[in-house]
Amino acid sequence: PLPVIIDCDTGVDDALALLFAVRHPGIDLRAVTCVAGNTDVDGVVRNTLTVLETAGAPAVPVARGAGRPLIEAPRPASHVHGHDGMGDLGLPAPRRAPAGVDAVTLLHREILASPRPVTLVPIAPLTNIALLLRTHPEVTRNIERIVFMGGAAGAGNATPVAEFNVWHDPEAAAILLTAGVPITMYGLDVFNRVVVPAAEVHRLRASTEPGARLAGDLLAHRPAAPGTTAGGTGGTAVRAPAGGPDGPGEAAGGLGDAGALCAVVDPRGLTTHRLPVEVSLAPGPARGQTVVDRRSRIGESELHEGTREQALVDVGLEVDVPRYVKLYLETVGAGGEG
Ligand code: BDR
Ligand code: CA
Repeated sequence: PLPVIIDCDTGVDDALALLFAVRHPGIDLRAVTCVAGNTDVDGVVRNTLTVLETAGAPAVPVARGAGRPLIEAPRPASHVHGHDGMGDLGLPAPRRAPAGVDAVTLLHREILASPRPVTLVPIAPLTNIALLLRTHPEVTRNIERIVFMGGAAGAGNATPVAEFNVWHDPEAAAILLTAGVPITMYGLDVFNRVVVPAAEVHRLRASTEPGARLAGDLLAHRPAAPGTTAGGTGGTAVRAPAGGPDGPGEAAGGLGDAGALCAVVDPRGLTTHRLPVEVSLAPGPARGQTVVDRRSRIGESELHEGTREQALVDVGLEVDVPRYVKLYLETVGAGGEG
């Protein structure tokens, strides 16, 4: 299996990603690090530990990381993820404490200790990763690829042009993009599209297996983005009810961050183009935008020669929705249906 480390801000869809990573036989989840984002960092640590315990993976080391972005003030997203960051589902407190080391120390240790190069999967603001790259730049020699959820070639969500994870800490995202390792951007262009049909969400919620049941409850909290259709095999297209995600029997849930983990184990389901990407750092309405230069492909023109350093990133622009929905359900929903 692929050695994988997740950096997260759990987070309803981060939890979906953790449940998948723990279950997928192709992933060896070596550590999980936590950063402020969807909720405050202590809440993220608590949520992450609870999810791992529910998924039956209590031994994966978890570390607390940055409590705020490099420059900005923290801006939690309780309107999306609930006051506890986990959809206010009333989950139990975790039984264990996090590792006795901070996130940067754990990342450094686990990346260099891995017998094979690690796939690093940040699905949160990039603060921890930026601090890691600046503190221990030698880690890049044992990183196979960074697959991050963040950014957008098209519309944003936190602002008209900026996606939340990049907008929350734009300087950190800029550091990540110039890490000098292969990078896949799983941005909003694909993130919003992978939606599980309502019937499958109901099946998960009825499961007797705690991890599958939690996935169902979390998906029910996540309405499909406006205009998306559910992508299951044989499922009908469903939109979340106008009144919110918890309407009786109607919710369909976006996989969100979990789609980035699908892209790690099944990269063929994601169509990427290698393109120059730069984070807009100037104050003003474009701050936090990932400016994706779609005018040319590498090798096709000399447009970029002689310009300042720009990161070339494998930007996900198309996703095979039924394929990822099937992969997710087969991984997390297998067995134990009630
Ligand atoms: C990102 O922000 C969070 O709400 C999600 O977990 C995801 O990481 C989407 O912009
Ligand atoms: Ca997240």
